[in-house]
Amino acid sequence: MELVLASNNKHKLNEISNIISNVCVLKSLSDIGCSVDIPETQPTIEGNAIQKARFIYDRFKMNCLADDTGLEIETLDGAPGVISARFAGVGCSFSDNMRKVLMLMEGKTNREAAFRTIFCLIIDGKEYLFEGRVDGIILEQERGENGFGYDPIFQPVGYDKTFAEMSLELKNTFSHRARACMKLVEFLGSTNK
Ligand code: IMP
Repeated sequence: MELVLASNNKHKLNEISNIISNVCVLKSLSDIGCSVDIPETQPTIEGNAIQKARFIYDRFKMNCLADDTGLEIETLDGAPGVISARFAGVGCSFSDNMRKVLMLMEGKTNREAAFRTIFCLIIDGKEYLFEGRVDGIILEQERGENGFGYDPIFQPVGYDKTFAEMSLELKNTFSHRARACMKLVEFLGSTNK
């Protein structure tokens, strides 16, 4: 089967494609002639994933997949969460976001956090949600050069390295996105869609 990914991010398309290529073909928005900015205005990660998938399904009536991810920090009541991309303001950089987190976490002893990815899949109008989660801690300073976003300050449980100190190959074996993808693959495989 074919699925349209409701994202303009080529890196995401490749990453997800690699994992699900055995069960379906992932198409990009440009493959279907869609060049609009998809709205992401919901107050939750789940809400945004659903909003993006519905936006594509309603317009193109094509089976589709949308994802949304956030870093949730316990002592910050789940922030940055749904606004992870723009935590330090619209147009901010990954460094701005990390600086803001580190500043808010100064002196905090509870460093627990989790990355959460939600995939919303729509097949023939039916919606399915899949969650991938990685628990970890927020360090007191950045470590490592790889990855993106909050990777240099996030150390997953069971590792003594941040995501940014790991190879992409290792991160991709257990990241929040990879875990959500694996659930999706299992579902698509089991339903023979
Ligand atoms: P998105 O929903 O995948 O666009 O992710 C929203 C924001 O969460 C990104 O802009 C990053 O700041 C952060 N983020 C998502 N995935 C990761 C990751 O794997 N590592 C670090 N930060 C991430």
